[in-house]
Amino acid sequence: MTKIAIIGAGPCGLSMLRSFEQAEKKGEKIPEIVCFDKQDDWGGLWNYSWRTGSDQYGDPVPNSMYRYLWSNGPKECLEFADYSFDEHFGQPIPSFPPREVLYDYILGRVKKGNLKNKVKFNTTVTNVTYIDNKFSVSYRDKKENKILNDTFDYVVVSTGHFSVPFIPEYPGMKSFPGRIMHSHDFRDAEEFRGKNVIVLGSSYSAEDVALQCHKYGAKSVTIGYRHNPMGFKWPNGMKEVYHLDKLVGNKAIFKDGHEQEADAVILCTGYLHHFPFLSEDLKLKTHNRLYPPKLYKGVVWENNHKLMYLGMQDQFHTFNMFDCQAWYARDVIMGKIKIPNETEVQSDINKWVAMEEKLENPDQMIDFQTEYTKELHSLSDYPKIDFELIRKHFKEWEHHKVEDIMTYRNKSFSSPVTGSIGPVHHTPWETAMDDSLKTFLNK
Ligand SMILES: Cc1cc2nc3c(=O)[nH]c(=O)nc-3n(C[C@H](O)[C@H](O)[C@H](O)COP(=O)(O)OP(=O)(O)OC[C@H]3O[C@@H](n4cnc5c(N)ncnc54)[C@H](O)[C@@H]3O)c2cc1C
Ligand SMILES: NC(=O)c1ccc[n+]([C@@H]2O[C@H](COP(=O)([O-])OP(=O)(O)OC[C@H]3O[C@@H](n4cnc5c(N)ncnc54)[C@H](OP(=O)(O)O)[C@@H]3O)[C@@H](O)[C@H]2O)c1
Repeated sequence: MTKIAIIGAGPCGLSMLRSFEQAEKKGEKIPEIVCFDKQDDWGGLWNYSWRTGSDQYGDPVPNSMYRYLWSNGPKECLEFADYSFDEHFGQPIPSFPPREVLYDYILGRVKKGNLKNKVKFNTTVTNVTYIDNKFSVSYRDKKENKILNDTFDYVVVSTGHFSVPFIPEYPGMKSFPGRIMHSHDFRDAEEFRGKNVIVLGSSYSAEDVALQCHKYGAKSVTIGYRHNPMGFKWPNGMKEVYHLDKLVGNKAIFKDGHEQEADAVILCTGYLHHFPFLSEDLKLKTHNRLYPPKLYKGVVWENNHKLMYLGMQDQFHTFNMFDCQAWYARDVIMGKIKIPNETEVQSDINKWVAMEEKLENPDQMIDFQTEYTKELHSLSDYPKIDFELIRKHFKEWEHHKVEDIMTYRNKSFSSPVTGSIGPVHHTPWETAMDDSLKTFLNK
């Protein structure tokens, strides 16, 4: 019997498990599956942890989620085609749910089956090599502190790529009297109430961590961008300036001459694709981009078609894209999809990479990833979902953010699965301090 290893039980690993479950329900014979996760439960980043640094077994904490995180895109854009929000919550819910609500949704469809018994928790995959047409996989049972080995026909890497922080150094950091941290370790914005905060970066973490600090009462928030500013209309108390030059004492000095007293510096400088457990010939090496090279259809490792990677792209689309990738990977593993010859594989990858390199603005990037996801969708029996509506929603969402970064999360969108419209939330995001599932769902 074919045997597959799924490394990671976050949203991507769960999509993989779900895809096999659906095939089995249709009467197909599925492979033997072993899923590994180094955390104590499933859900990946959405399985919030208060921990930072290392866990109780000495492993680095993979989790980068923070307490008051709300979805930064409309939930309708990430909806599962086979399990709508309406089905899970029994009623339409607002379009920008907090972390706890999304976590509940992600787990809803997998909890219904017997999938959990396929996952080995507290188990870190430490080594994967390909020898004699098989993958040799070593893993550490963290509780027992034992290294074990097994062999597999296929390996699916679904370990995420927002867990290992990229931490640059700026002059003056060693003598800075305040707190310096990466967004990976950011948990609770309350910590920065009344403080002058410097945020470095110009992507989603910088935007949202800065907004969180402002929302929870920071005295000032100064964002230092390196290449391009985000350029939103920031509220009073927030500003965006050009690139940190150095820290002198407790002062941050920027390259545009701007100076700001600082109590804390939060590095929102992104993450590394880091796969220390994979042998060199199997290892994806890339920065955070929309089409990492060497992955056929963004999934199949060019040099070994029995190795799949899920969710390694920079992400506009998330959960339903992960599903399309998982359904595709499943059909490759089950022999329903044949990978073409090397020349065709190469030219397909090159085509997408060349298109990606020409992208100039968010609308084009949204179009690119929508086209990619649509193509994958057309290759499997993943249920129908309106990707044209999702494309439209993403563009509208981008424009809402430009209009007002403080209110974009109060807008409503329609479902690409059921058509229902997300009701307006009872409390605007800016004043919603209690974002528990109970309060959020309370009408
Ligand atoms: C702060 C933050 C906020 C985000 N907010 C949103 C949002 O609002 N909406 C959205 O759609 N997306 C958001 N994302 C994007 C996020 O990438 C996806 O939502 C999703 O979590 C990706 O799923 P994944 O399975 O690829 O990775 P992860 O969620 O990271 O899960 C990977 C799993 O693999 C396990 N693992 C890793 N290495 C090993 C190993 N060697 N052995 C065993 N197990 C291993 C980890 O323990 C983890 O459970 C956010 C990301 C971050 C960092
Ligand atoms: N739900 C939410 O609200 C939420 C919140 C946070 C994060 N997220 C998700 O988390 C994921 C990761 O986002 P991310 O922003 O952490 O990573 P990212 O998108 O990869 O962005 C990394 C940022 O770091 C900057 N950077 C890198 N090195 C730097 C340096 N030396 N000095 C200054 N800036 C530097 C980059 O700027 P350059 O452009 O100059 O290279 C870029 O802006 C995304 O999928 C996002 O959607 C979601």
